[in-house]
Amino acid sequence: MSKRNIAITVALCLSIFFMANRASGNENSCVNCHEDIPRNKFIGTKFLDWEGSIHAKEGVTCQRCHGGNPSADQKGEAHAGIYNSGNPMSRVYYKSVPGTCGACHRRDFNAFKRSTHYALLERTGAGPTCVTCHESHTTRIISPKQIPMICEQCHNERRRISPQVPAHAQALLLLINQTSFLVRHAREQIEEGDQKGLQAGKKAYRMMETVRDEWHAFNLRQVQIAILEVYDMIARFLDQKQ
Ligand code: HEC
Ligand code: HEC
Ligand code: HEC
Ligand code: HEC
Ligand code: HEC
Repeated sequence: MSKRNIAITVALCLSIFFMANRASGNENSCVNCHEDIPRNKFIGTKFLDWEGSIHAKEGVTCQRCHGGNPSADQKGEAHAGIYNSGNPMSRVYYKSVPGTCGACHRRDFNAFKRSTHYALLERTGAGPTCVTCHESHTTRIISPKQIPMICEQCHNERRRISPQVPAHAQALLLLINQTSFLVRHAREQIEEGDQKGLQAGKKAYRMMETVRDEWHAFNLRQVQIAILEVYDMIARFLDQKQ
């Protein structure tokens, strides 16, 4: 394809994408009505938080988590099946949150089900749920710096719940982020036709998925073993390149 044709195709794809996004926004009564609720009211702050999130950008609208009917314009009809999060019938009741998020984040959910956190959440309600860490509407992506603040809500000396966890988790997340950067960098170095390089790139990718799984299983020992293994493999690959 010529450069000009590529440019036209890209422009066309983009405009279709934006039109599709706008159409779904217009048809969604949850978004339409909640948008007009003053942002200084409790209900309005939820829209404000959601509006700037990655979910809003990706078209994950209110009913995907809360239920209800986004094609009904009247409040009563639209709210059918929606309950306050304090009600066990609600799809966003804290114990139901993992399943609600897991409808899309299947892999993270499956890993989370293996964790002590999930077992505790089910049994006593004392374990964190997805939004304890990621928040419900801003959908924060957690930086290593934020780890102590989040984990120390429970993991601290006073409560004696594994107080060594925050420092360990922070160091590991730093290593995970740096290793993913290194993996991306290494993959860019692989030349076309370099079978060994391509194999190594694929293997690194799969190993990063394992790291991700063990992370949400909150099996820090396994995270550590897996991430050091990828790091070592990539470092050796880059050494050979020189
Ligand atoms: C015509 C306006 C309107 C529409 C349409 C609407 N809402 Fe609401 N919603 C409100 C108002 C106003 C409130 C504040 C409480 C009340 O008046 O019921 C509210 C409250 C809520 C709450 C808090 C409920 C609680 O018990 O604390 C949620 C969650 C919610 N809406 C989600 C949705 C979803 C999801 C949709 C679409 C399927 C939707 N809303 C459609 C106006 C609307
Ligand atoms: C990714 C899932 C998700 C999306 C999308 C989402 N919410 Fe929520 N929402 C939650 C969760 C979980 C809670 C439970 C309380 C909490 O953790 O803040 C909640 C709580 C609320 C509350 C407080 C009342 C209650 O039941 O606690 C309101 C109001 C609300 N959401 C409105 C909205 C509106 C309006 C939208 C769309 C603009 C939206 N939410 C989109 C997950 C979501
Ligand atoms: C309807 C599907 C859907 C639901 C339900 C949903 N998400 Fe998402 N989420 C997405 C999409 C699509 C993205 C965009 C990036 C991606 O593909 O991971 C995303 C992104 C994220 C990200 C950022 C990931 C990154 O790498 O940038 C987090 C964190 C997240 N979601 C957490 C949650 C949580 C917590 C819940 C439940 C409260 C939830 N999601 C519910 C579809 C969903
Ligand atoms: C105890 C805190 C905690 C809990 C509980 C938690 N996460 Fe995470 N999650 C993190 C941290 C830390 C990261 C790594 C940094 C980041 O990407 O935000 C992460 C990463 C993610 C990501 C982006 C990378 C990836 O693995 O795809 C998604 C999506 C995600 N979590 C979804 C979920 C969902 C869905 C649940 C519930 C089933 C959940 N998380 C439970 C802390 C948590
Ligand atoms: C809402 C409370 C809460 C939050 C927030 C929380 N945890 Fe936990 N976590 C627990 C409880 C309770 C246990 C089980 C009791 C114990 O380990 O002593 C636990 C256990 C663990 C374990 C297993 C400990 C072991 O020695 O086997 C790990 C690892 C862990 N959490 C990691 C984290 C990380 C990382 C974060 C932050 C990203 C976090 N937790 C946030 C409550 C929490």
